[in-house]
Amino acid sequence: MRLSREFVQQVRDRNDLVEVVGEYLPLQRRGKTYVGLCPFHAERTPSFGVSPDKQLFYCFGCGEGGDLFTFVMKKDGLSFQEAVVSLAERAGLTVPEADDPVQLERWRRQEALLAVLEAACVFFCRMLAEPTQGRAARAYLSERGVSEEAMARFRLGYAPPAWEALRPELTRQGFSPELAEAAGLLVRKERGFYDRFRERVIFPIADRRGRVVAFGGRSLDGSGAKYLNSPETEVFSKRRTLYGYHLAREGIRREGRAVLMEGYMDVLTAHQFGVDCAVGSLGTALTPEQVRLLADQAGEVVLAFDADSAGQRAARRGLEVFGSLPCEVRVLAIPEGKDPDEFLHRHGPEAFRRAVAEAPYWVQFLLDGLLATHDVRTAEGKHRVAQQFLAVLERLDSRVEQEEYLERLARRLGVSVEAVQQEAKGRRSSGGERSPGEKHKIPGRRENLPSQGDRTSRAEQTLVALMLQDEAARRQVMTELGPEDFEVEEFRALVEAMRDGAADAGEAWLDRPLGSPEASPDGEATIRGAQLGAWLLWELPLDNPERQLADCLEVLRERRRRRRAEEIKAKLREQAVPDPALLREMDELVRAGKRR
Ligand code: UTP
Ligand code: MN
Repeated sequence: MRLSREFVQQVRDRNDLVEVVGEYLPLQRRGKTYVGLCPFHAERTPSFGVSPDKQLFYCFGCGEGGDLFTFVMKKDGLSFQEAVVSLAERAGLTVPEADDPVQLERWRRQEALLAVLEAACVFFCRMLAEPTQGRAARAYLSERGVSEEAMARFRLGYAPPAWEALRPELTRQGFSPELAEAAGLLVRKERGFYDRFRERVIFPIADRRGRVVAFGGRSLDGSGAKYLNSPETEVFSKRRTLYGYHLAREGIRREGRAVLMEGYMDVLTAHQFGVDCAVGSLGTALTPEQVRLLADQAGEVVLAFDADSAGQRAARRGLEVFGSLPCEVRVLAIPEGKDPDEFLHRHGPEAFRRAVAEAPYWVQFLLDGLLATHDVRTAEGKHRVAQQFLAVLERLDSRVEQEEYLERLARRLGVSVEAVQQEAKGRRSSGGERSPGEKHKIPGRRENLPSQGDRTSRAEQTLVALMLQDEAARRQVMTELGPEDFEVEEFRALVEAMRDGAADAGEAWLDRPLGSPEASPDGEATIRGAQLGAWLLWELPLDNPERQLADCLEVLRERRRRRRAEEIKAKLREQAVPDPALLREMDELVRAGKRR
């Protein structure tokens, strides 16, 4: 489905951002803007603002920002296109029939797959309810303490033992076996098709909007594989899916936190006990996509894995390779090999909530893991732990945090803080071991925005904002500086666009990623552009533009002079007889620096 620019604009015109945001959280008018508690991170005092004039939102606390579409994308976990469609529906607009036959075909195919999956889900549910056929499965579930409500809420089902139970049912409903095979429901053999799921309790797996995309089937008596899952299909990607996500979204939003578990049963039991912010990782290693999916809804993710399980090892590996995490991550190790399901049944939800609240921050968790797996009585062991842990610390944004963990490391290794600091310095000067995670950096979120504390990047930011707002300022900056004077990638690109393009290139640049369907297929650029735009417009107090222009220009001039001076010094060092022209230039630079 391809959405025309006109339609996107129409959707934008028919929805008011303040109203849309107001459906998710209470907003209060404050002057020209509305404020509220940020839905993207946990906070007690409101730092989340919505501008009715600009139709932008921005949070000073966590740096999230964007427009109508990005808000819905982030809040509901939708793609750009899905957000447009959802907002169109909200405004009562009919989405125009697509004109691109390829897209249309793909869309129809997906709808067909979802339809056959839904039919299968209904069938499995009916089988579980069937007095005789479903008896054993129901007995199994109630023996494990699953309530009727939980069964219904998670749409649990039962696949009877026959090789052909679902198949004839689907045929009766007019679904072709080829379609059912593509949906992962049937398996093809020489002589025809047969049911993939037989004699198993069925756990339907839904997408972000609650549509069934796959199934997990548990063996009743432990024969065969414990769980049999749908294969990857056109509508099911394991690494992008979380079990129970659509049921947990509300709870995650409310608690400002998601609890990620390993098993279907764990998630089910958690919800049954009222821990409704729980989702499941589908038995895969923790993927950046999954963390991101959760980070879009909550400021914090708690991994609640079985102690020393494969999942926990996978989590550790995941944490070690992620470049930087888009939210707070803490890790709860369920004691004594128990899983959350067992823990909840035995100790109740209050004990579980306490454990969640006390779960250590992921950095501490990794440190504990390293200490437990190395012999730190030996010098060799100490060195190994230090090296690996320092690689983790290098990824932390906060100096304070780094300091704190350096101290903890030293204490736990029984060495001096200075020794650890020396080791860290050694790594830095030798370039360190590049953490393999750099490649997997999760895009979008704070780390992509220029650091706010840095004086020069702040100056760059101010100048760009001034240039966007004022023609005269733009001309003045352009005569003195070029794109190469801007180090922040986004700013350099923007200044380049302004230099090369028409006078309104700046606005155009900000406009383009803010809501054009072709801007980026995955919406990532949309979010990025919107964040930057919102950030520029909101954060800068442009109370005295002339003064700010002069000051910021000087900051960048100063940096340029300093660099040039370094260059000259290096050249002079190589020359036996100093070049008088260079000496003169050096004098100039020094004098220019003093004049200000
Ligand atoms: P667990 O073995 O912890 O499953 O595997 P569980 O959900 O706690 O199940 P019970 O309590 O023993 O009934 C965790 C997850 O790993 C995946 C499933 O998603 C499971 O929920 N898994 C496990 C498989 O896909 N296949 C398997 O054979 C085992
Ligand atoms: Mn279990």
